[in-house]
Amino acid sequence: MPGTPRARLAVAAAAVAGMAAVLLAPSATAADSLKQLADAQGFDIGFAVDPNRLGESQYRQIADTEFNFVVAENAMKWDATEPNQGQFSWSAADAVASYARTSGKGLYGHTLVWHNQLPGWASNLGGSQLLSAMRNHVSTVAARYAGQVEAWDVVNEAFEDNGSRRQSVFQQRIGDSYIEEAFRAARAADPGAKLCINDYSTDGINAKSTAIYNLVKDFKARGVPIDCVGFQAHLIVGQVPGDMQQNLQRFADLGVDVRITELDIRMSTPATSSGLQQQARDYERVFDICQAVDRCQGVTIWGISDKYSWVPGTFPGQGAALVWDESYQRKPAYAAIATALGDIDPTPDPTTEPTTEPTTEPTTDPTPDPTGDCTLAVRVTNTWPGGFQGEGTVTAGSSALSGWTTSFRFDQGGIGTLWNGTVSSSGGSFTVVNAPYNGTVAAGGSTSFGFVGTGAAPANITQVSCAAR
Ligand code: G3I
Repeated sequence: MPGTPRARLAVAAAAVAGMAAVLLAPSATAADSLKQLADAQGFDIGFAVDPNRLGESQYRQIADTEFNFVVAENAMKWDATEPNQGQFSWSAADAVASYARTSGKGLYGHTLVWHNQLPGWASNLGGSQLLSAMRNHVSTVAARYAGQVEAWDVVNEAFEDNGSRRQSVFQQRIGDSYIEEAFRAARAADPGAKLCINDYSTDGINAKSTAIYNLVKDFKARGVPIDCVGFQAHLIVGQVPGDMQQNLQRFADLGVDVRITELDIRMSTPATSSGLQQQARDYERVFDICQAVDRCQGVTIWGISDKYSWVPGTFPGQGAALVWDESYQRKPAYAAIATALGDIDPTPDPTTEPTTEPTTEPTTDPTPDPTGDCTLAVRVTNTWPGGFQGEGTVTAGSSALSGWTTSFRFDQGGIGTLWNGTVSSSGGSFTVVNAPYNGTVAAGGSTSFGFVGTGAAPANITQVSCAAR
């Protein structure tokens, strides 16, 4: 297909050869743009576009020069494309497709079936009408952009964090089969597009990503068409999951492509210099991770400038999540991404690229462990009245682990549910051992477990230890 990253790589061959010379020249400092670096590697670097902003010169200049891949932030969603039943409205979606075509960028489709931005008429249909409306919507939209869209988010955000199906109108009125119905309709309408399932909070190994993993396995076994999985990666600064590479790799090993689809990394605002530095390390790490996973097609960032990011509207007091600030100035993340894209063979190194950091929540330092087998870092990632969520990251020392046991103590609060491990507790002390599937950790590699806590979040986490078992 003309738009695929590999094909774009071939088309750009001459330019790439020229740029390689530039990159290798002793006096050269850097390529001109992230796009050039990504093109040279056949890697997609994308952004979510609002076509109404393309007339704004700074926005347009960055869009044109820094990215080789584009997705509509809102313009291809159901409420935009079929606001009334059977009456399709193509102007905004066509503007995005046309921009992709004229600027030579790959086009990603977002999204055919989603419980959000779903017009009222669809939410009010009963089961059999909703199924036929959904099939019609998927077929009509996918057919219109057939040959242009490289891959579609066919179904978006179908699962809850605990791995159960989200009780959307589709789930409630059509039942479990709605996802495969949507995928079959998309395949029939555009046999050339890759078909993806996309979700958030699935970047690490957890109950939700495992539910999607099981769905992909099941679809593959039953011949339901599915080609790819999108990981939104709406992240918080300092909290790139320690097992993100391992997570993406397990999907790739099922025989599907993977892609980071909506990357942004938010922090408390106003941003501090240390927050921006950590954010840069986090961006670099996410790009490194994608490059290190064979079937990872690329990374799409959910916008250009902080000026238009969705984050502050949804998380008041947080923002500064993108790569350009509100005045279109490059943030430290820009150079960090360039560094990641300049790496020929990136190997994310958890020992030099800390994944835990500056939040006001308590975080343990990765522990010096007397045995040297492994270290553990435990952190609280989110709090709410009467509860909290946290994560423990186990990092192997210079030898691989075939099993691990960790312990730590909270000064207050308990652990309700824990995943990717088995927990036992005594007083405020907890012992967590590996689950059957994540005991093996390569030398220097890491894995993590997560938990939902009960009561007040701990202010101090102490007596942290990690050992092989
Ligand atoms: O278009 C209307 C406009 O007519 C109206 O005047 C204005 C008043 O609020 O609203 C406009 O619609 C807004 C739309 O964005 C376009 O700007 C909606 O209110 C607003 O809710 C909508 O937010 C979008 C959000 O999805 C909706 O859930 C964000 O821009 C978009 O970035 C966000 O993207 C999602 C992905 O699709 C899926 N993953 C999560 C991601 C972030 O939430």
